[in-house]
Amino acid sequence: MRTQVAIVGGGPAGLLLSQLLHRQGIDSVVLESRDRDYVEHRQRAGMLEQGTTDVLRDSGVGERLDREGLVHHGLELRFGGAGHRIPLTDLTGRTVTVYAQTEIVKDLVACRLADGGDIRFEAEVLEIDPSAPSVTYRHEGAVHTLACDYVAGCDGFHGVSRPAVPGLRTFSRDYPFAWLGVLADVPPSTEELIYAHHERGFALHSLRSPKVSRLYLQVTPDEDLDAWPDDRIWTELAARFATDDGWELREGPITDKAITPMRSFVAEPMRHDRLFLAGDAAHIVPPTGAKGLNLAVSDVTVLANALAERYASGSESLLDAYSATCLARVWRAEHFSYWMTTLLHADPAADDFTRRLQRSHLDYVASSQAAATSLAENYVGLPL
Ligand code: PHB
Repeated sequence: MRTQVAIVGGGPAGLLLSQLLHRQGIDSVVLESRDRDYVEHRQRAGMLEQGTTDVLRDSGVGERLDREGLVHHGLELRFGGAGHRIPLTDLTGRTVTVYAQTEIVKDLVACRLADGGDIRFEAEVLEIDPSAPSVTYRHEGAVHTLACDYVAGCDGFHGVSRPAVPGLRTFSRDYPFAWLGVLADVPPSTEELIYAHHERGFALHSLRSPKVSRLYLQVTPDEDLDAWPDDRIWTELAARFATDDGWELREGPITDKAITPMRSFVAEPMRHDRLFLAGDAAHIVPPTGAKGLNLAVSDVTVLANALAERYASGSESLLDAYSATCLARVWRAEHFSYWMTTLLHADPAADDFTRRLQRSHLDYVASSQAAATSLAENYVGLPL
């Protein structure tokens, strides 16, 4: 069995890469360890930079995104009992779009399969040989080897691709918090996202549709989900979003509940021989600012262009530049995500001096056009 590009992992990075390569006439096989239903239903963030929606649209999977995605022009920072709007579009000329990652995955799977794309679900990758190159995997009880020209490791933080790269240098930061995320069948209580800083902890009000709200609460990393019955979640959210003018949070049935750990992580370089890492396989950001999916999209866009040049002209110059090109953007997003996280969360170990600095920083971002513009241009995404 042979293909041009073996793609390990059928999340948004692997599926989009397969789609981008297909548009360039390059064959690929996607190997995904989970089944289709699992892949299409895992809940992740849902805030897309304008550059991300441009890539999805240009690659032919923008139809439902254009119909159902909610275009946003600003966000709210809420602290000290009051809201402060950051007018993203006025400050940057760009917009962001709310459209869940899980919907992008559904759109990509449907599009690839309709075009005769090869996605093998429940295929467990056993070994990646970055030099041969080849991928050995088990599918329906039999072991197969897929020979290829290149391997793309798009199998997330816990995948097998990164361990196949020898001599990686890694950088990481753990945080003393996690997010408890819920999906609720209730119309959002806000039109724009609310990022709330409160002494009880951070809270985020996001949305999925005019009828579905997405909400998050800062909790401790070892938090027990069973300690959070629905009424405790609503009470805590209401306390953290409370304003002096009596803003009200609408409540409704919670349909999904999960705890997301927070971590910053980068592995360098993102390439070894003919194996290229993309997305969470190479780097993780804390979810504040929703950069994870957007970074995965920029990685695979760079990789698809580099492979297209290689097959069109034989030149490997863009492939040779892949890791450095991606890492420049990755580190900018790492800094922004770390910055948003420390700006907005309540660190239980912080001393009074640190708390005063944090409040001054929030006041500055809320009142200075220069500071707000810095937040805004990172949030909407710097040009690819
Ligand atoms: C989400 O809608 O899931 C979301 C939005 C913005 C974030 C993180 C998550 O910063």
